[in-house]
Amino acid sequence: MSTPTTPPHLFVVLGATGDLMMRKLLPSLHKLYQKGEIVSPSVILGAARKPISEDQFRALGLQHLVEEKAGTTEGLEPWCREVLHYQCLGEGGPEDYQRLAERIRQIEAARGLPGNRVLYLALPLGALHPAMEGLGSAGLSRGPGWTRLVVEKPFGRDLASAESLNRDIHQSFKEEQVYRIDHYLGKETVQNLLVFRFANLFIESLWNRQWVEHVQITVSESLGVEGRAEYYDTAGAMRDMVQNHLTQLLTLIAMEVPGAFEADAIRNEKVKVLRSVERPGPSDVVFGQYTSGKVDGKDVAGYREEPGVRADSTTETYAAIRLRVASWRWHGVPFFLRTGKRLPRKSTRITVTFKAPPISFFQLSEEYEVNPDRLSIILQPDEGFDLAFEIKVPGEATRTQTHRMKFRYSDVFGEIRDAYETLLLDVLSGDQTLFVRADEVEESWRLYDAILSHPPPVHKYSPGSAGPAESSQLTGELGYRWNDL
Ligand code: BG6
Repeated sequence: MSTPTTPPHLFVVLGATGDLMMRKLLPSLHKLYQKGEIVSPSVILGAARKPISEDQFRALGLQHLVEEKAGTTEGLEPWCREVLHYQCLGEGGPEDYQRLAERIRQIEAARGLPGNRVLYLALPLGALHPAMEGLGSAGLSRGPGWTRLVVEKPFGRDLASAESLNRDIHQSFKEEQVYRIDHYLGKETVQNLLVFRFANLFIESLWNRQWVEHVQITVSESLGVEGRAEYYDTAGAMRDMVQNHLTQLLTLIAMEVPGAFEADAIRNEKVKVLRSVERPGPSDVVFGQYTSGKVDGKDVAGYREEPGVRADSTTETYAAIRLRVASWRWHGVPFFLRTGKRLPRKSTRITVTFKAPPISFFQLSEEYEVNPDRLSIILQPDEGFDLAFEIKVPGEATRTQTHRMKFRYSDVFGEIRDAYETLLLDVLSGDQTLFVRADEVEESWRLYDAILSHPPPVHKYSPGSAGPAESSQLTGELGYRWNDL
């Protein structure tokens, strides 16, 4: 079977000399070309303020592709020459955007492209408003073919700024043209959540307050801020991870069955979840910040000592939250979310703990504990599922033991497609299912607005630990504990 190709298009990236383009987009685009999913005459036009020539841009791209080892390095140089173009955006004034529009038309004419355009904003938050103005004033929101606008996170820094950004976007673009990226939605295992829930009736029939005791969503990272302090110190874990990635996972776990498997039906259900979550108060949130210490036997700097971080910074590098979903399905089932940098390992997992049997026949001695069944959905690394359940230890009438049934993607499918590749293909085929709609992004900011404007105290934690000790209150008060990391 031949690989389906995407329609011929021009892929325009604003912010094309930045990290996101060089480390994520370019390698993913290159892979899609390599796999034949994007083919000639489609090309990429990078645009940025840097006054560099097209050749310099190609050299920069080449250098990063080599560093990222995007497949084989053979053929990289001719590919860069054939596919990469560059337009300097200067000061980013209206005439610069007019020049960009002119360049777009030139390339399209020279390559015989039909005028399908992706406008990808790989820009920091502060640069989004001017870019929207520039694109609008140059008439770039419409073209001879389709035009799709891709916006990266962070999408705002609170409810008011997200609303204002949406207003700006909607001045020139229709919502059907807008693709707000949350790269977690592109992860194969995240997409599989819907299949897992709605294609397996036995799972779905247990997926409610009658059978589920509580749910934990954990995104733990062992790395620190890694040279991104300038951005991170103004964001923190709530804005960087919770408002987007973790909350997206919550919506997919908690949503109802959509009327159809299509973008708006699914996104409607996600928005309903967000509307039914009670806004967390100060007693539902614990913030932490890592100190200096040792990870894997190596000394690591504390957050406040990281280059670019303010010495008195109170930015949280860890956040744990307890949420209640006031819906028919989930009333009374706590959802615990946590994420942090410099935790013991990189691991993203959702664990659903089921209720214990009403009467335990088997816990006949103090010595042995019967654990409730637990389903862990492992999003990374080692993608798959674990179902922990109790079995009888042979020969010992009174003893049970917890065992795991494991499924690993890698055992069955080998390499899984990278999230960015999936999302880029969806943009090119016009499928908005895995992108965050305007009302969805606003609802998720609304949820955390009070916490963000009046943050709780920030507790210290050592690198390599499971976060600040105080976070155990969130689960402990309800008689639970955090799962091991
Ligand atoms: C990004 C955050 O959105 O997600 C980073 O800005 C974080 O701080 C990253 O490290 C985690 O993504 P992943 O795919 O590695 O879990």
